[in-house]
Amino acid sequence: MTSPLFNTLPAFGKLEKHAQTASSWQMRDLFSAEANRFGTFSVSAAGLFLDYSKNRVNSETLSLLMQLACECRVEEKREAMFAGEIFNNTEHRAVLHTALRAPRSDTVRFEGQNVMPEVHAVLDRVAAFTRRIHSGEWTGYTGKRMTDVINIGIGGSDLGPHMVCQALRPWHRDDIRVHFVSNVDGHDLDAVLKQVRPETSLFIVASKTFTTLETMLNANTARNWFLQGATEADLPRHFVAISTNAEAVSAFGIHTDNMFPFWDWVGGRYSVWSAIGLSVALAIGYDHFAEFLAGAYAMDVHFKNAALENNMPVILALIGIWNRNFLDYPSVSIAPYLQDLAYFPSYLQQLEMESNGKRVTKAGIPVSWHTSPVVWGNVGTNGQHAYFQLLHQGTDITPIDFIAALRPSHTLPHHHAALLANCFAQSEALMLGKTADEVRADLQAQNMAEDEIEFQIPHRTFPGNRPSNTLLMNILRPESLGALVALYEHKTFVQGAIWDVNPFDQWGVELGKVLAKTIQEELEGNATHPHDSSTAGLISLARAALN
Ligand code: F6P
Repeated sequence: MTSPLFNTLPAFGKLEKHAQTASSWQMRDLFSAEANRFGTFSVSAAGLFLDYSKNRVNSETLSLLMQLACECRVEEKREAMFAGEIFNNTEHRAVLHTALRAPRSDTVRFEGQNVMPEVHAVLDRVAAFTRRIHSGEWTGYTGKRMTDVINIGIGGSDLGPHMVCQALRPWHRDDIRVHFVSNVDGHDLDAVLKQVRPETSLFIVASKTFTTLETMLNANTARNWFLQGATEADLPRHFVAISTNAEAVSAFGIHTDNMFPFWDWVGGRYSVWSAIGLSVALAIGYDHFAEFLAGAYAMDVHFKNAALENNMPVILALIGIWNRNFLDYPSVSIAPYLQDLAYFPSYLQQLEMESNGKRVTKAGIPVSWHTSPVVWGNVGTNGQHAYFQLLHQGTDITPIDFIAALRPSHTLPHHHAALLANCFAQSEALMLGKTADEVRADLQAQNMAEDEIEFQIPHRTFPGNRPSNTLLMNILRPESLGALVALYEHKTFVQGAIWDVNPFDQWGVELGKVLAKTIQEELEGNATHPHDSSTAGLISLARAALN
């Protein structure tokens, strides 16, 4: 499916012209002029509410963006993805992570076969295994119950389950602890091994390819650590694998009976819904994991069926396109006002930047427009006391996604009102800013001397007019989290469709991996290779320290 180049589309030209007018708009004036701006520029879906009124947009902006989505054939591409076409065209793969959360009774075809029986057969195995661990039927080699689960994986085989486990802390069982080891830095694994005992530890080696250097090294080290006290015959009770690569799993020494498969039509960063979610099911119970899947499915149904104008992922994506391609904002900050979503910004970094951090179209033509912005952020209110200064008064404008829950899962009085007050106050302050006259009036009320007031005014003036979205849910629970993650997956898809890139490959990570192998040989003293003087110098410093 080839598309005309994004920046040659009629809507692109119209939006560029429209952006010249919009650059002089002040959002505070837009709000004064439109009494129901909040109602006009907000949408609900799958238990989530999105307020996008604090963006530099009006109704014409939205209709031009919708025209752009049509000209980029977003609906057609969406159909193609859901229909199991080979959407990932460089790896010649379908993209069917949506099948992973569809009900058993659905039919999703890939190459003529309904994949749903296979998907649910694996989910049933995840459910059964989870129950055996929780009931104590599956024990360690000394007959004791498992107390610790250690997920060894990286990228999509870590960030998804890690983020979800953190997000659903109130749902955790108290008889099992789940740990995540991802970094090849030995400090990561070492810290976990110091907290656990071999006889009560279950290791999950999670790797789609089962070739990822970090994961294989961590898994081998964990295996050797385990074998210090146990025997090879004890391994099957303590090591399970999640992968698409049965051969490599067997070669590692994990029997395929202990392997939970998934499929190459599931991208790593879209895999938390598959058996990769095993650590989540172990932490919160399979029934809650199923609720997480159901929340995502509700968002899928909305994304698939809602008209573009009322389609939350489409709107979120288009607002992002407006900010990135027409107002030229280089990054997006994610600000969950929810401590349990602490890993959500990191999760979205992989989802959005690994998906759409691309420089050629699906047809291989270099793009002459911006693709993914830099995605970064941290939880509120902490970010307010770190980098929000730049967001309010820095020279770059950074759109922000505020994410909050109307109700907490705790019962600590007053905390939640304080949290929400800060969240809403930030978006209001970023939008309104503070004029010189307002600063002057404030300082005069404090009886400050006039010459000091004039000196202070430029420092205390806020330009405002800084865009944000606010996403609300009732309470952070498995369903709402599933809907939230699926929302951003579909946002990423729509943006990829508009930029005409392939969001489902990641060739950009390969070069560093290849060079790391060569340099590792040199650090271990087995080879020398030609390098630039910087890299050679760094290698020789490390060699001297290591040997
Ligand atoms: O290096 C990037 C990457 O390929 C990600 O796309 C992926 O999620 C991660 O590595 C881990 O890959 P695997 O699950 O195959 O170990």
